[in-house]
Amino acid sequence: MEFFARSGHPAKQKTACAVVAVFERGKLSSAAAQIDKTGKGFITRIVRRGDMDGSTGRTMMIDGVRGVSCQRVLLVGCGKLGNYNRRAFRKALATAVGNLVTTGCGDAISHLGDELSEATDAYYIARYSVETVAANSYRFEQMKSKKGKKPKLKRFGLAMPGRAEKKAADRAVQDGTAISAGASLTRDLGNLPSNVCTPSYLAKTGRDLARKYKKVDATIYTEAQMKRMGMNALLSVTSGAKEPARLIVVRYRGAPSSKKPYVFVGKGVTFDTGGVCIKPAPGMEEMKFDMCGAATVMGVMHAVAQLQLPVNLIGVIPACENMPGSAATRPGDIVKSMSGQTIEIINTDAEGRLILCDALTFARKFKPAILLDIATLTGSCVVALGAHMTGLMTHDDELADSLLRAGVDADDQAWRLPLAEDYDEPLNASFADFKNVAMREGGAEIAGCFLGRFTKGVRWAHLDIAGTAWKSGGRPHATGRPVPMLVDYLIRESHNG
Ligand code: BES
Ligand code: MN
Ligand code: ZN
Repeated sequence: MEFFARSGHPAKQKTACAVVAVFERGKLSSAAAQIDKTGKGFITRIVRRGDMDGSTGRTMMIDGVRGVSCQRVLLVGCGKLGNYNRRAFRKALATAVGNLVTTGCGDAISHLGDELSEATDAYYIARYSVETVAANSYRFEQMKSKKGKKPKLKRFGLAMPGRAEKKAADRAVQDGTAISAGASLTRDLGNLPSNVCTPSYLAKTGRDLARKYKKVDATIYTEAQMKRMGMNALLSVTSGAKEPARLIVVRYRGAPSSKKPYVFVGKGVTFDTGGVCIKPAPGMEEMKFDMCGAATVMGVMHAVAQLQLPVNLIGVIPACENMPGSAATRPGDIVKSMSGQTIEIINTDAEGRLILCDALTFARKFKPAILLDIATLTGSCVVALGAHMTGLMTHDDELADSLLRAGVDADDQAWRLPLAEDYDEPLNASFADFKNVAMREGGAEIAGCFLGRFTKGVRWAHLDIAGTAWKSGGRPHATGRPVPMLVDYLIRESHNG
C-alpha cells in the first residue's frame, strides 16, 4: 500500500472513494457535511430515511453522486461523537479498510481523522491511519497453496484540514510506512512455523537486511564460537536440539561511531517445547511465537534503516530451539554463564532467561547507551497484563518514562512492573550462585531480576512481550508489537541529539 497526505475541499478530491464519518443520531462529520452540501444533500436524505444511523461498525457505499469529484462515498458509522477517541477511530478505519478491499476501488481518501476528540496532533492521526490501514491489509499466505484474491486497493490518502497539518502528515506517512514495513517483517517471522523459521532462517533475515541497506551489516556466530566465548547458559538450552543455534548481530550505523549505540537484545527461541520439563500439548503450537523478541529486533532494524535515523543501533539475537532429548539439559544441572556466574537450572522451561543472560553479557562489550531486551519471557506477565500491555521492568526511571511515553504515543502501550529486591532474593541457590526460577508468584518480576544480575551498571530495561507479541486462540497470529513503540522511542531519541 502506498500512502499520501492531502489537504483541500473534501468534495474536490479526485479519488475512487471518499471515506467519511457519520456519528450517532445521524450527525455528519465536517467532511461528510461538505460533501453532502456539494452533492445537494444526498447524505442527509440517507440519514433521514433511517438507512444510516451512525452506530459503530455500520458502513454504506454510495455511488455516482453528481457534482463531487469522488466516484464513491463510503459512510462509516463511528458511534457517539463525544466518544470518538483514537480507539474508536482505529476501529472505524479498520472497518472501512475491510469494506474497501472487497470493492473495485484502487485508491481512497480517508477523512475519518477529522473529529478525533482526544487531543492528538496531525502527525499521530496520520501515523495511526497508515499503521491501521497497513495492519488491516496484512495477509500471511506464504504457507498456503492457494493464495487469496489480491485487493485492488493500492493507494490510500489521508485528508488533512490544512497546509500545516499536511506537512506533519507527510512526515507521518514516512514514519508510519517504515514502522508498518518493520511490523510486517516481525509478523511474518512470528507467523512462520518453526520448521521454516529456524535459527539459521533468522540469521538469513539478518543477512538480507545487511544486503538491502548500506548502513547495516550482520555477523553470525556458530555454536563453536559461542562455546569459545563461554556462553554455556545459552548452549545449555540448545543442547537437546539437532537444529544448530546461532548468535546473530545486526548493526546499523546511522551516526558517528563516537556515539554510543542502542543495543536491543531479542529472545529467539524458534520453538519452546519446555525441554525436559516439557509443556502440556494443548496450545503448544503457539510456542513457535517464542522468537517474537528476535522478530521485533529485526522489524525495528528494518524500520530504522528505512528511515535512516541518525542513531547507532545494534541488534543481538540469541536463536535456538528448546527441545528434550538425550543431550538435553536436566533439572538440577549447573552451568557457568559467560559472565562467570553459575546457574542451577531448576526448570528447563525457563530457557529464555538462560539465552538472554549470555546475550546481555555479550552485548555489554558494545558499551551501550541503552541496553534493552525484548522477550516472550513469562506466562506470569500474560496473567498480569493480558494481551493489552507489554511488561516493562527497569531500575532506570528516566528510561522507563521515555519507553512508557513512546508506548502511549505509538498506541502500543507498556506497563511498568517492579524489580524490587524481594523478587530477586529467592533466586539464591544452595548449589550454584543462583537458580533460574523461584516461586510461581511474581514470575515476571523474578525473571526480570534474574536478567538484572547480568546488567549491573548499565542503563538497561526489559520488555516482557509474552502477552502482546501474538494473539492467542482459535486463529493465533503475530501482532508486530512492540515495533511501533520502539521505533517511536528511537525517533524521539534521534530528535534529542
Ligand atoms: N516462552 C515461555 C513463556 C510464555 C508462556 C509465553 C506462555 C507466552 C505464553 C517461557 O519460556 C516459559 O516457558 N516460561 C515459564 C517460566 C517458568 C517455568 C518459571 C512460564 O512462564 O511458565
Ligand atoms: Mn519456556
Ligand atoms: Zn520460552
